[in-house]
Amino acid sequence: MTRNVPSLPAALALAALANAAPLPVSAEVGSRAEAIYQSHCAACHAPENIMVSSPKLNNAAQWRERLAPGLDHVIDRAVKGFGAMPPMGLCDACSRDDIEAAIRFMAAPALDTPIPAD
Ligand code: HEC
Repeated sequence: MTRNVPSLPAALALAALANAAPLPVSAEVGSRAEAIYQSHCAACHAPENIMVSSPKLNNAAQWRERLAPGLDHVIDRAVKGFGAMPPMGLCDACSRDDIEAAIRFMAAPALDTPIPAD
């Protein structure tokens, strides 16, 4: 019997990884970013959230639109708050870097294209 069958899922997983947009942050930052997202942003930015205006996790089209003026602009707006987006996403303990990490995590599929400079 060959060992080809067990290797197929592994090959598919590798293929999926190869097709995924490269993460702009390191694995370590990525997991911290995910933790920030899960505890402070998911309430309003999860894909299943019914809120109409918030750009959702991994929705490339929504994030490309938001990122058009540049990443710094988007970070500033998240830090200061605007509309129904509360300042720092209500995360009192977050730094600007934390907010950027969470944004990079949510917007990763849209960050595979160059972001226009501010
Ligand atoms: C209470 C709900 C809520 C929480 C919590 C929240 N957001 Fe938002 N966020 C929104 C809404 C609503 C919008 C869209 C506002 C608009 O376009 O008027 C938004 C928009 C944004 C945008 C788009 C900025 C732009 O320039 O268009 C970013 C970035 C963002 N949020 C980041 C975050 C991050 C990071 C967190 C977690 C630390 C977070 N948000 C937590 C509701 C929330």
